[in-house]
Amino acid sequence: MSDDVKKGLLGIVVDETTVSQVMPDINSLTYRGYAVQDLCEKCNFEEVAYLVLNGELPNKKQLKNFVKEERLNRKLSKEILSDIRKMPRKAHPMDVVRTAVSLMALEDKETKDNSPKANMRKAIRIFSKTPIAIAAFFRARKGKKIISPKRNLSFSENFFYMCFGKIPTKEMVKAFDVSLILYAEHSFNVSTFTARTITSSLSDIHGAITGAIASLKGPLHGGANEEVMHMMNKIKKPEKAFKWINKALQNKDVIMGFGHRVYKKGDSRVPTMEKYFKKVASIKKDKKFMKIYDIVKNVMIEKKNIHPNVDYPTGPTYHLMGFDTDFFTPIFVISRITGWSAHIMEQHSANKLIRPLSKYSGASHRKVMLLNQR
Ligand code: CMC
Repeated sequence: MSDDVKKGLLGIVVDETTVSQVMPDINSLTYRGYAVQDLCEKCNFEEVAYLVLNGELPNKKQLKNFVKEERLNRKLSKEILSDIRKMPRKAHPMDVVRTAVSLMALEDKETKDNSPKANMRKAIRIFSKTPIAIAAFFRARKGKKIISPKRNLSFSENFFYMCFGKIPTKEMVKAFDVSLILYAEHSFNVSTFTARTITSSLSDIHGAITGAIASLKGPLHGGANEEVMHMMNKIKKPEKAFKWINKALQNKDVIMGFGHRVYKKGDSRVPTMEKYFKKVASIKKDKKFMKIYDIVKNVMIEKKNIHPNVDYPTGPTYHLMGFDTDFFTPIFVISRITGWSAHIMEQHSANKLIRPLSKYSGASHRKVMLLNQR
């Protein structure tokens, strides 16, 4: 590969952003200038969603209005709900949520309007409606009755309620809220860049988020949180973890939930998520996953100097909360919608068509032979 080809856009800065800053050297991630750890301890997810979308933390009145708008939009048309009921039970929930957002575009009166105000209204509608679609499929595929959202519940409480028909303890809801805060935004990652690329042709927010969901599904990106759980289930017992991970490394396997394109000394989101994973594990009186977690992590750091990324602790946390493994990445979606939307709006406000070049390495110029001569 010649030096002028930057495969995977490695190290290439393609634009400016005011949404978030990843600082790998000092292990820091800020949303609009605020450290995520600080946001996790002092704010709820709705406040952070407002921050990511609007650029500032809300005051009481702004939060009240934002929460009101989000809650008023907690409804899905009976047509989309009926489509979700008919979707194959074996379908991956990421394919279902991708389709659901695409369907929302068909019904939204402002789909074509890319003005800043319409984009913000659409972003909030997608943000409110997508968890309903995910929870509806969570239940429908088990043959259970779909539970309608409740407007008197917080964003996280409502999601638990729609999935399970009940709300867990405050500590559990806080841990879920923290995971959503940590998943909300992460600069020019694959799905965000996908969303910005789609937007750069002046396409709309529903299309950009649909594409971003497709991108997030991959195991090298958001899909890693599901893969972490599959790995832990394969390991089965803490006593087997050490041997398992050493053998996997001998086989040169990629260990899911480890490594990062930008962070090389550790993901700044991990210590906070790890703290809440351990809280959830202790509430659930789980020792098994916590032990497997520590053994695999220690071997990865000692032998490979590769650190866990945020998907490593979120996987077992969501499992202990009772979510099916293939719903872990859709949970990532309900949070990252905020980051994607902020980037889509930023791209629209200062657009330049994203159109890189490629170095041709195919056959040299040749003459077309007629069909009967080939
Ligand atoms: N397990 C084993 N080896 C790894 C891993 C891993 N998870 N990650 C990196 N390496 C090795 C890789 O094999 C390579 O070794 P060598 O130089 O001997 O060929 C070296 O580290 C550099 O890796 P790379 O693949 O060139 O690094 P990258 O920046 O292209 O890839 C990554 C980053 C995230 C795709 C990769 O670390 C990976 O595949 N991780 C597992 C999937 C994962 O957890 N993804 C979630 C990413 S963060 C959160 C999110 O987006 O959801």
